Amino acid sequence: MKNIIITGGAGFIGSHVVRRFINQYPNYNIINLDALTYAGNLENLKDIQDKPNYFFEKVDITDESQVRAVFEKHSPDAVIHLAAESHVDRSITDPNAFIKTNVMGTANLLNLAKEFWDLKQEHTHGNFPDRKDINNLFYHVSTDEVYGSLTDEGFFLETTAYDPQSPYSASKAASDHFVRAYGNTYGLPFVLSNCSNNYGPNHFPEKLIPLCILNILNGKSLPIYGDGKYTRDWLYVIDHAIAIDKIFHEAQLGETYNIGGFNEWKNIDLVKELCKQMDEKLGKEEGTSEKLITFVKDRPGHDLRYAIDATKLNKELGWKPTVTFEEGLSKTIDWYLDNQDWLNHVASGEYQNYYKEQYN
Ligand code: NAD
Ligand code: DAU
Repeated sequence: MKNIIITGGAGFIGSHVVRRFINQYPNYNIINLDALTYAGNLENLKDIQDKPNYFFEKVDITDESQVRAVFEKHSPDAVIHLAAESHVDRSITDPNAFIKTNVMGTANLLNLAKEFWDLKQEHTHGNFPDRKDINNLFYHVSTDEVYGSLTDEGFFLETTAYDPQSPYSASKAASDHFVRAYGNTYGLPFVLSNCSNNYGPNHFPEKLIPLCILNILNGKSLPIYGDGKYTRDWLYVIDHAIAIDKIFHEAQLGETYNIGGFNEWKNIDLVKELCKQMDEKLGKEEGTSEKLITFVKDRPGHDLRYAIDATKLNKELGWKPTVTFEEGLSKTIDWYLDNQDWLNHVASGEYQNYYKEQYN
């Protein structure tokens, strides 16, 4: 058995990665290391929580002694690091939380990986030996936001210079730099990926798509920042989890991959499409939900456009999305309609009582 720590496994993307690894790899023990912040929800993992290869550790990545204890207990062969403060709007009102978790927390994990894996090789200058297995692999899951904002043309490539614009993206850029610096300086075997906007089941309803689904169900307004012409590139979360699996197992050490589905939408067009599908599924007259759209004050420093060029991942590792946006959005809406308990627990804060006795 190999022991793999997945940080942030109770969150949106992390829960899909944990599920995939538990189901695909019975020869891996999966240790979900998560602090259960407001964004962490063990209800996301109800279906796999009793599997013999699943372990949960309620641990804050910024707490050195807690993380050390997990390394001592589980002797991880590899770490897949997703735990982060992830919401741009929150980073604008409370940047320190992002600096703490995303920068200091990542540094903490890197220091412990370096110590426990007893790294000998120094100064890789980007040259790692050929990849043989997953031993001592640190996989850092990052975002396309580190590249900054595009105008109407072009795409983010792996070679695009970093130009983060929000406290969130600055903290993720800093963590990416630390991962690469540990690779170069201490020979930490790492891989890194930068993904575009995810959507799908278990997405926390502070983010655009699930917030609009929740508000349509409750007849509340759909807040569109600024003029709604801001553009995002959307990928179904399970396709992200498949990409992470592929990169984790097949990428050469020290490599970075951009992940995205060539699927750009202006926010206003996306919300209109969502309204249309919701009206159909709820049996409402077309145009009912669209009436809820309300233009509100813009996000400060709002990035105009993100668009990922994922050609490298496709050419080198053969990954491409399995789900079209039409299917993905439809599946997502169906999931929220079938899981209104989940949505209500999250919206009411009740999910934070789930397992409280066990883990607090
Ligand atoms: P999320 O906010 O849904 O989940 C984050 C998880 O991390 C939660 O379970 C939370 O409890 C945990 N966490 C937060 N602070 C912690 C701490 N100090 N110690 C331990 N656990 C902590 O986030 P997400 O959307 O699933 O994103 C996961 C990762 O993927 C992040 O690193 C994010 O930057 C990256 N990413 C997200 C997207 C996206 O569209 N959501 C796209 C690209 C990359
Ligand atoms: O690009 C990847 C990033 O995508 C991830 O790294 C982040 O963790 C993730 O949160 C996401 O960031 P965004 O800021 O792009 O996602 P969000 O859903 O918050 O917003 C999507 C777009 O919709 C953005 O242009 C802001 C806008 N928006 C958002 C909300 C919450 C609105 O117009 N109204 C809203 O109420």
